[in-house]
Amino acid sequence: MGRRVFVTGANGRVGQPLVRDLVAAGDDVVGLSRTEQGAAQVRALGATCLVGSLADRDVVARGLAGAQVVYHLAGGLRGPGKQTPDLINRLGMEQLLAAVDAVGTGDLDALVFTSSCAVYGNRSGLVVDEEMPPQPSTRYGQSKVDAERLLLDAAGRGVPARIARLAAVYGPGFPFMLVDQIKAGKARLPGEGRNYVPTVHVDDAVQALRRIADAGQDGRVYNVADTDPVTLKAFYTQVHKAVGGKPVWFWSTWIPSYVQEAVARANERVQSHTPRRPMFTPDNIKLFRDSVRMRVERLQSELGMEWRHPNAVEGLKVVLGSA
Ligand SMILES: NC(=O)c1ccc[n+]([C@@H]2O[C@H](COP(=O)([O-])OP(=O)(O)OC[C@H]3O[C@@H](n4cnc5c(N)ncnc54)[C@H](OP(=O)(O)O)[C@@H]3O)[C@@H](O)[C@H]2O)c1
Repeated sequence: MGRRVFVTGANGRVGQPLVRDLVAAGDDVVGLSRTEQGAAQVRALGATCLVGSLADRDVVARGLAGAQVVYHLAGGLRGPGKQTPDLINRLGMEQLLAAVDAVGTGDLDALVFTSSCAVYGNRSGLVVDEEMPPQPSTRYGQSKVDAERLLLDAAGRGVPARIARLAAVYGPGFPFMLVDQIKAGKARLPGEGRNYVPTVHVDDAVQALRRIADAGQDGRVYNVADTDPVTLKAFYTQVHKAVGGKPVWFWSTWIPSYVQEAVARANERVQSHTPRRPMFTPDNIKLFRDSVRMRVERLQSELGMEWRHPNAVEGLKVVLGSA
């Protein structure tokens, strides 16, 4: 018999494929979305969906009531206006845990949180495992570290919490691939492209999250990435081969980094007075420039993970067609 599962961020890019997979496995899935439009997308996948934010304690409590598994995906790099990473990720976790405390953990077997490889910051290409202390270079990474700490405290008082540190996710429709910009000949990125940004195909990300929920240990962290990291340049060279347009132009070798960051900071400040989500921010620059590789042996040896797409260049051929 299927389990009762609650998914926050259910209408998001990772949320929707996860919900589809859980519904196909026979689970009784309840999503949380902030908008009716998002909720309609989740319902179209065969789940039910509540409308509200993490701040709506009663709505979240309804989602948690009777849930055996919770996937906490609501969060992200930054929202529009004043929605900083801290508000979205740290405060969001605080709000979720307050609701968990109010409802109790009677039925709950697992609470899986999607943290990020951004907690590791820039390690000059070093291969890091889960025991490596976090050293985020961005406000986003710091907000995920803070959320992880709140969750690990909760694990100490009996919440069956597990952490998935996700690499950058690619797959059909994922903006990280920069398909539209490359097709239009307008893809520009900071850095030189020789760095490693960990990646994972969405199907493997979903499989990993499910394995962590089903067989992970409470209070444990799991890196979620592919097994055969490629440089950013190799990744986008493959996207360009498949979709045409112009290769990504890596521009920051000739603009000092303090100038790039000052301009990005000014842009973010101006944009935060509009309802738009600023894209050119100091965090985005650093996330594309940092270099780190993630060791994923824990996922493989403890949870039996079997990657469908161990290498992103090969994975992109499946997503975009080979060229
Ligand atoms: N995609 C990646 O490459 C990647 C890599 C590492 C980690 N992660 C993490 O994985 C999670 C899912 O990523 P994603 O790519 O699916 O993100 P996404 O497409 O931006 O979706 C995020 C979801 O969170 C919801 N949300 C944000 N703040 C909320 C709040 N206060 N209350 C309720 N819902 C809220 C959003 O709702 P709205 O639709 O209303 O905005 C959206 O449904 C995020 O926590 C992200 O930080 C993602």
